[in-house]
Amino acid sequence: MLASPPFGTSIPLESPDAAVSHAALTVLPPPESIAHGKLESHDIEGAFLGPMTAESLADVDPLDLVDEILRLKARENATILAHYYQDGEIQELADFTGDSLQLARAATKVTTPTIVFCGVHFMAETAKMLNPEKRVLLPDLLAGCSLADSCPAPKLAELQAKLRGQGRRFQTVTYINSSAAVKALSDWICTSGNAEEIIRRVPEDQEILFVPDRHLGSYLEEVTGRKMILWDGACMVHEIFSVQDLLRLKRRLPDALTIAHPECPANIREHADYIGGTQGMLKYVASFAEPRDFLVATEANMLWQLQHASPRHRYHPVPGITCACNKCPHMARNTLAKLRDCLRDGRPEIIWQPSFEKARAVLERSLL
Ligand code: 13P
Ligand code: SF4
Repeated sequence: MLASPPFGTSIPLESPDAAVSHAALTVLPPPESIAHGKLESHDIEGAFLGPMTAESLADVDPLDLVDEILRLKARENATILAHYYQDGEIQELADFTGDSLQLARAATKVTTPTIVFCGVHFMAETAKMLNPEKRVLLPDLLAGCSLADSCPAPKLAELQAKLRGQGRRFQTVTYINSSAAVKALSDWICTSGNAEEIIRRVPEDQEILFVPDRHLGSYLEEVTGRKMILWDGACMVHEIFSVQDLLRLKRRLPDALTIAHPECPANIREHADYIGGTQGMLKYVASFAEPRDFLVATEANMLWQLQHASPRHRYHPVPGITCACNKCPHMARNTLAKLRDCLRDGRPEIIWQPSFEKARAVLERSLL
């Protein structure tokens, strides 16, 4: 357990998996740091639905599952960390919920031998890198990230070599949504919570190569005034907010304030009253004493956490171009049933890889 778990109370849940279009998922090969030794190939091929069985696909009472998870958590002496983009039912039973920066820091304070990371692969990998001696489990090994996938380490190494060949002096600043191998090629790691501070740590006489999110990169160019070389990656969730629907919402609720994640493209950010990561959003809405309406341009499960932390306000999801609200299909791979299965079976587990050593040093310098 963590020293002081922040949440104890609960609110009603309203985010079933059914809202996620599984047809939109790309099935990628499992990341190398997953414990292949513990998986049969049919597990991986069958991993579209993860280790779920007929029983877990049937109508299992979520309350029974929660009881089972809590019993297994105690048996395994595990701490559950969950990102704000997980379903409310997972956030509700986590020992700690947070943004990427808080979760990386929280992972270093866990006192139990096992961490179950309810988030995506790069987050669990980060927890492992910062805690080599802990067992780190991830409920679904295919919970990836479009940003991390957009920047393979060999391609980044190629670009760095090309820039060096041109005699350019630069430092590489990498968003935490990236693989360990990419982190190992970096000078700095940033999250939405500390990105401006990290950019300001790069000496003025050096250029900045920013990877992999071009939208966060262009936002950082705006707020810091530093021109950067931007990698061409994007978050598949934040990239598809509908500007038309946002403007329609604004017309319907003229007093509402719009909050947007910096992973959103400029055409969404330009209509926002506040731009910041998920923790920044929580602080921003908490600063309003009177009830307000907020239009929220980030992953839709964030509304659960906003509602939980500042229930006096009303929150409205900004729609995606094809759906009423925008959910991350990678985050949605983690379900209560898979959380139960992973605690019961002790897999999938993040296994230490050679690239972790170098990546760990960059993480520690940047985040701790
Ligand atoms: P933060 O919660 O750190 O803002 O990250 C957002 C995100 O996209 C995580 O995948
Ligand atoms: Fe990656 Fe976007 Fe999903 Fe976050 S919301 S895990 S950045 S695809």
